[in-house]
Order: sequence, then C-alpha cells, then structure tokens
Amino acid sequence: MSKILVVDDNAQNRELAKATLEDEGHEVVLANDGLEGLEAFERERPECVLLDVRMPGLDGFAVCTRLRALPEGAEVPIVFLTALRDIDTFDQALRVGGDDFLTKPVRPTELLVRVQAALKLRKMSADLRETYDLVRRQRDDLMRLQLQKERLSSFVVHDLKNPVGAMDLHAQVLLADRTLPQKARDAAEHIRSDARSLMRLILNLLDISKSEEGKLEPRLAELDVAALARDAAESVGLKAQLSGVTISAELPETKIRADIDLLRRVLENLLDNAIRHTPKGGKVELSRRLEGNVLVLTLSDSGSGIPAELRERIFDPFVQVEAGQRAVGGRGLGLSFCRLAVEAHHGRIWVEDACPGARFCIELPAA
Ligand SMILES: Nc1ncnc2c1ncn2[C@@H]1O[C@H](COP(=O)(O)OP(=O)(O)OP(=O)(O)O)[C@@H](O)[C@H]1O
Ligand SMILES: [Mg+2]
Repeated sequence: MSKILVVDDNAQNRELAKATLEDEGHEVVLANDGLEGLEAFERERPECVLLDVRMPGLDGFAVCTRLRALPEGAEVPIVFLTALRDIDTFDQALRVGGDDFLTKPVRPTELLVRVQAALKLRKMSADLRETYDLVRRQRDDLMRLQLQKERLSSFVVHDLKNPVGAMDLHAQVLLADRTLPQKARDAAEHIRSDARSLMRLILNLLDISKSEEGKLEPRLAELDVAALARDAAESVGLKAQLSGVTISAELPETKIRADIDLLRRVLENLLDNAIRHTPKGGKVELSRRLEGNVLVLTLSDSGSGIPAELRERIFDPFVQVEAGQRAVGGRGLGLSFCRLAVEAHHGRIWVEDACPGARFCIELPAA
C-alpha cells in the first residue's frame, strides 16, 4: 500500500479522494493548497501525488513544476485532477511532467485505477532504469577490460620483436665463424629457423591488429616477384630440408608494384603451411602466370589439402583443419594475415584442391 498526497482546495473533493483511497488501504495525506502541498511533500515523501489544477495561489501546474525540480520529486507519479476537460489543459499537464489527467467529477473506481496505474508505471520504469544502468555499467567495465587487454597484448607483441630479431642476428654471427664445429652450426641454424617462425607469428599478429584499426597500408614499390620468391623460399629452406620436402620456387622475372615486406611474409606463411602439411618426400611448387593485367601466383603442395567445406573459412582467424585434434604447430593466424595483406593490395586469395594437396592462389594487379 502506498502513501498518497492529495492537494485540492475543495474540501469535498479532498474527503472523497481520501475515503476512496483509504478504503483500498492507502495512507492519505491532505493539503489545502499548492504551498501546503509542497511542504507536505517534503515532509511526508508520498509515493504518489493527486493534484488539483485550479487552486488559489500556486496552481497545480506550478506545484508540479516545482515538485519535478526536487530530487525526490523527479520520479514520483503525479495525477492531475481538474474540472477543465480541454486539450490545452491536458497538454500543459503533460508538459509540466504530469503522469495522468482526471476530470471531475471523478468516479471512485476511476480514481483508484488511475492511481494504481501511475504507481505501477513509475515502478516499472524505475526497475527498467536500474536494469539498464546495471547493463550499461557491466558493458563499460567489459569494454575497459577489453581495451586494457588489447593494449597489453599489443605491447607484449611489439616488445617481443626486438629480442627475437636479436636472437636471429646472434645466430647469424655464430654462423659467420668458419671454425664453428658442425654440431654448433646445426644448432645455430635451428635457432635462426625458430626465431624466424616466431617473428612471423609476431608480425602476423601485429598486422592483423593494424588492419582491424584500418592502418594496414601497403607501401608500394616496384619489385621482382622472382627475387621475392627466392628470398621467401630461402627463409624456410632449413625447415623444408628438415621435413624432407623439396621447394621449387624458380619463377621468370616479373615486375609488380607491391609492398615487398608484406608480400614476402605472405609467401613465407604459405610456404610454411605447405611444408608443415606435406609428408616427407613431398614437393611444394610455386609458379606464376599472367592473365592480362593480373598476376596469379600459385603454391601447390602434395599434402593433406583443405576440405571443401573449409576453403572459405580457413582464412578467418583461428580456423584450423585440425581444430579439436592437435594442430601441427601454429595458431591459425597465418592465412588471416595473408588475406588481409593481399586485400590491402586490392588482390584476392583463395584455395583450391590440387588433387592431392592444397593449391593456394593469389591474384594481384600486375602492371
Ligand atoms: N598447405 C596446407 N595444407 C593443408 N592444410 C593447410 C595448409 N595451409 C593451411 N592449412 C590449414 O589451415 C589452417 C590455418 O592456417 P594458418 O596459416 O592460418 O594457421 P596455422 O598455420 O595453423 O598457424 P600460424 O600460421 O598462425 O602459425 C592450418 O592450421 C591448417 O589446418
Ligand atoms: Mg600458418
């Protein structure tokens, strides 16, 4: 049951409202005019206000305006009572923040129904607002956490680049020493190969997040695809040798405008995948053809291939054929990077069946 304030200058109306509401178990506070009404509101903190419009001194609209300006009055349901049944009065009642509008003479049931409805509506909107605030707070917290996480991981990724680069460099220094025994040379070669794999992963991650922020801009310059292919093949040479896989990457000279670093890493990622999925004794072959103004690079292997239903999705982050089972090394980011890098060149990348094996194709604008 609720405490209800009735503000009316007419004693008969006050008594009628009081009797009706008390019959339903509500507690009723009465006020004879606007000022008294405001005082009673501050003192009694009612849960609903019935307000006559026409009163000497402060009229109902003025009282309503002042109530709404009070911190405790902003949400309280206010129902106007008036003898004036015209649209202007109704409009003004709403404008000053009234919830409902009753014309006199008021029938007791109508009064009750309207008061209950106003109470319920206010309660519902208060509940809703509470839920909304809670959801918003949780969303903001999550967002903040997510941003912190992203910032942290981009720092980590970025800070890994230097030490990993240094590892590769030190291994090269060791290899330059001709007196180094074979076993030590092999170890240094392994360090180099692993450092390169790690570096590839780091750069893939960095470029994927750059692309998410719309900052992956290729720096175009003229380059020879044949030299690039040789470079890329050499960088995965040891891995291929250890896996017993032959790489054939001899291409005729082909000039295009592209970002040499991005494109080399695309080829390295594709070669790395091909080597990892090709059985010992298998072959990985890079070739190219020109179709008008378009250069098509293809990399075929004799490995396990990509099932037809995954050939689109395989370029999404973290998608791996072996998912669920143990993926053969890797994190499922290489092909996502490849697609972003190729698309940044306004090119296209897709995979076909090489029967057996996979054939990755890249289309790039040539001239
Ligand atoms: N040549 C291929 N033959 C068979 N499966 C392949 C080949 N290339 C890629 N895949 C499949 O596609 C998946 C995604 O490749 P992607 O390069 O994106 O990730 P990854 O190699 O697993 O990890 P990462 O490249 O991040 O080190 C691989 O896990 C593998 O299941
Ligand atoms: Mg890969």
